[in-house]
Amino acid sequence: MTPFTTVDLTVYPYECDAFGHLNQAALLTLLERARWEALARGPGMDLFDRNGVWPAVRKAVIEYRAAAFARDVLRVETTVAGRGTTSMTLRHVVRRVSDDAPIADAEMVFVCIDRLGRATPIPDEIARFLGPLARPSGAGGGHEPIRVPAGDVELSVDVRGEGLPVLFVHGFPFDRTVWKHQLAALSRVRRIALDLRGVGASGAASTADGYALERYADDLVAVLDGLGARQAVLCGLSMGGYVLFELLRRHPERAKALILVDTKTEADSTEAKRGRDELTLVAERHGQDAVIERLLPRLVAPETLAAQPEVVDQVREMARRWPVPVLVGALRVLRDRPDSTETLRKIRVPTLVLVGSEDQIAPPDGARAMAQLIPGAECHVVPAAGHLVPLEQPLVSSRLVADFLQTVH
Ligand code: MLT
Repeated sequence: MTPFTTVDLTVYPYECDAFGHLNQAALLTLLERARWEALARGPGMDLFDRNGVWPAVRKAVIEYRAAAFARDVLRVETTVAGRGTTSMTLRHVVRRVSDDAPIADAEMVFVCIDRLGRATPIPDEIARFLGPLARPSGAGGGHEPIRVPAGDVELSVDVRGEGLPVLFVHGFPFDRTVWKHQLAALSRVRRIALDLRGVGASGAASTADGYALERYADDLVAVLDGLGARQAVLCGLSMGGYVLFELLRRHPERAKALILVDTKTEADSTEAKRGRDELTLVAERHGQDAVIERLLPRLVAPETLAAQPEVVDQVREMARRWPVPVLVGALRVLRDRPDSTETLRKIRVPTLVLVGSEDQIAPPDGARAMAQLIPGAECHVVPAAGHLVPLEQPLVSSRLVADFLQTVH
C-alpha cells in the first residue's frame, strides 16, 4: 500500500495537557490537519463542494502508542485502506520524526453523504483521487498475490514482508482478505495468506471429492513448501482452525506456534449436520447471496451489523467469491469433520486463542475450554466482536497477534 500522503506536523504547546503530553483529542485534530493537507496538495479544497457531497466520519479507532510533546514533529502517513460504494477507510500511522517512535495508529471510516445527510455513492472524481478500489474486496491495496501449485490446483497467495512466516487461513465462506488488517498492520514477520482451493482466484478442484479436510491441510503444506518455509506460525479462523487441526494430525512438525481465532474443537451435532444439508440446498437453489444472507446475523456482532456497514459489505463480497460447487464441497467438509479434542491435547507449541465476545458460532466458553486443553495457551475474549474478530475489531486483534508473535522464537 503506497502512502496516499505523508505530512509532517509540529505539536503546539496548547495541544498538550498539564503533564506536557499531546492531548488525545488534539491528536484527532492533528489527523484532520493531515487530511486537509492531502486535499490541499491534491485536487483542492472544493473537491467535495463541487460534487455536492461531504465525507462524514462514521467511525474512528485510535490506538495511542506513546506520548508526544510540544515541539515534536510528527509524521502522519495516510493511506486509503479500503473503499466501498459509499464508504472509504483511511489509515493513519503517526511517528515522531526525531526517533521514529510510533505515536499512534488510527483507522477512520467515512461515509459519503449528500446535502440532506443521506449516504450517497462516491462520485467518480473523488473515487479517482482516492485511487483504484482495493482488490479483491477492500483494503490491502494493490498487492499482487502469487500462484503456488498445490496438488491438482494452483492457489492464490498473498505474501508480504520478511521474517518469521505466519500463515493465515480463512474460514467459511470468506477469503484471504478477512485478514487484510493483520496483513497490513503486522511488521517484521512474513505474512502469508491464501485463498483456499476453489475460492476467489485459487483454482477449483476438478472433482467433487476435491474438497476434503485432508486436501485443504495438504494445500497449506504445499504453500509452505512452495515458499521454502519449513515451519510457520499457523493462524486459522473458524474453518481455517479445523483445517489447522487436520494439518497438526498429519504434519505436526510444521507448526512453530498456533493462533486459533473464533474456532472450536467439537464435531457437528446431528442438528448442526442437518443445518449444513439445508444450507447446501439453499446454495444449490438460490446461490451464494442467499447463503450469506442466512448466515450474516450469526457471523457478526449486533454492533457490527448496526455500525460497520463496510464490514458487512466485505462479508457479502467474500461470499460471492465462492462458486456454488465450492460452497457445497466445503459444507460437506464442515458437516463431516471429526472432533479435535485429542489433537489439541497433544499441542506443545505456544498458542494464542482469540474469540469475539458475541461469537455465536464458536462461543467464548468453548474457546476458553479449548485453551485449557493446550499447556500454556493464552485466551483473549475480544469485546464487541462476533465470529469475525480480525475484521470487526482489527486494531485490538492485530495488537494481540503482534504481542503474541513477539514471544515466538
Ligand atoms: C467458519 O467461519 O468457517 C464457519 O462458521 C465454520 C462453521 O460453520 O463451523
